Amino acid sequence: MAGSARKLRSADWFGKADKDGFGHRSWMKNQGFPGHLFDGRPVIGICNTWSELTPCNAHFRRIAEHVKRGVYEAGGFPLEFPVFSTGESNLRPTAMLFRNLASMDVEEAIRANPLDGVVLLVGCDKTTPALLMGAASCDLPAIALSGGPMLNGKYNGENIGSGTNTWKFDAMVKAGEMSLADFMAAEEGNSRSAGHCMTMGTASTMASMVEALGMGLPTNAAIPAVDSRRYMLAHMVGRRAVEMVREDLRMSKVLKRENFENAIRVNGAIGGSTNAVIHLLAIAGRMGIDIGLDDWDRLGREVPCLVNLMPSGKYLMEDFYYAGGIPAVIREIEPFLHKDALTVNGKTIWENNKDAKCWNREVIFPLAKPFKQEGGIAVLRGNLCPNGAVLKPSAASPHLMKHRGRAVVFESIEDYHARIDDPGLDIDESCVMVLKYCGPKGYPGMAEVGNMALPQKILKKGITDMVRVSDARMSGTAYGTVVLHVAPEAAAGGTLALVENGDMVALDVEKRSLQLEVPEAELERRRKAWKGFRSPHTSGYAKLYVDHVLQADRGVDLDFLVGCRGTPPLRESH
Ligand code: FES
Repeated sequence: MAGSARKLRSADWFGKADKDGFGHRSWMKNQGFPGHLFDGRPVIGICNTWSELTPCNAHFRRIAEHVKRGVYEAGGFPLEFPVFSTGESNLRPTAMLFRNLASMDVEEAIRANPLDGVVLLVGCDKTTPALLMGAASCDLPAIALSGGPMLNGKYNGENIGSGTNTWKFDAMVKAGEMSLADFMAAEEGNSRSAGHCMTMGTASTMASMVEALGMGLPTNAAIPAVDSRRYMLAHMVGRRAVEMVREDLRMSKVLKRENFENAIRVNGAIGGSTNAVIHLLAIAGRMGIDIGLDDWDRLGREVPCLVNLMPSGKYLMEDFYYAGGIPAVIREIEPFLHKDALTVNGKTIWENNKDAKCWNREVIFPLAKPFKQEGGIAVLRGNLCPNGAVLKPSAASPHLMKHRGRAVVFESIEDYHARIDDPGLDIDESCVMVLKYCGPKGYPGMAEVGNMALPQKILKKGITDMVRVSDARMSGTAYGTVVLHVAPEAAAGGTLALVENGDMVALDVEKRSLQLEVPEAELERRRKAWKGFRSPHTSGYAKLYVDHVLQADRGVDLDFLVGCRGTPPLRESH
């Protein structure tokens, strides 16, 4: 394959007939790359979040090999590189603390290296937004490829779902309905293949967002990680990345406001994770596209939930793939779509999906007869959350959607753990559990602790849901009438910091309202008495994060990372 007709960015490294070109090529040749690969052909970076500490992405070296086949076949030169891998199941205090750090790694690695285009290998929750954010700030041709979900979990002949069954079984153990031995036994069949969480948790939601945004090829979201079609897709992504460089199809040419609006609609139709709100706001922020919480509420409100997947429903991603996956959902929500939105394969979203079929109406319901009437994300406002809070109606209890209750306040997650199962705790199922200081600055990193487990004494009565309010997030695999992302957070001096035991809290999802029923004069008195929040993090990355992180309504990005910095010419290194 001869070099590309257009002079590519990588030619500034590999195309020079001087000591600098010698240096750039010669050292690369120690890997066995022959000279003709440096002839001006597109150099495709494969941005890999592989790590044995990120089990959801542990199969990514193999996926990368298939991407490489496609790149070579199309006449490109693939070069794989590692970036910080944000694994949800191991990282403390929360993987979210490191999403922005990973995005910086991605951005700087892409910009500083001789790359013309990039394939983003994404899987576990935060890896998807981190790579999209970093790539967006560079604006080269980029295509995302998800690693795929695990096969259905299995326990005692039943399907079990990542996270969702963990929360459920944990509550059953606390209620005395499941033995600890059985709980431990379920662990064996919970994660029985390569891949990410197979519920419609955050990873599956973000893989669906990749497809709905037009940043991945059709079927990206649902093919199981171990299905050979996942590897065929990887091959085709490699091919397409080369073509995208030749077409100069940059991220900013694909991603427009309409693509984000389509993604928000699809999120409603799939009963997607509340985390998608924060991640899409952050990606849009990098692109300079003005999407806000009100867009989430407005666009999601009209779209019913069509997909019967945990945590909102019963099935899992493997079933979803066999039923038709995201293409069938996109086909179904035609009236809500911007059909002309471009995608990375150069076709519109409608061209890609108009002939998609649904093979199982138990899994993907028709628009005319939806699985649940209310999809989308409800954005609440009120004196407790002047800059917004979110709730996922499809995962909440209908009888709690309008509720007024006495606040039981936990000043930190440690306070919650210390007292929640104290038999003397003054709480009943009509109360509203309020958790403070778990937001972006407070935790730090806005951990997934908002779906606080109910007190044992209430679980033992057979009660499985209560209204909970916090500035935290919750896992996309979780469920319940849980108000999340309260902004401003307690640590930033939000009203949440001022809530006291016994205050009345009123939630009205229909009216999109969350009120702390305390007179303004009393709130003012408490505000003056508030001692403020002092982060224990006085150095290192955590300090940088706490000093610069934006609130939930702005995507929790770092203020200095918002926007696109492109790939301007760089000085030589020697
Ligand atoms: Fe990685 Fe759920 S822990 S996707």
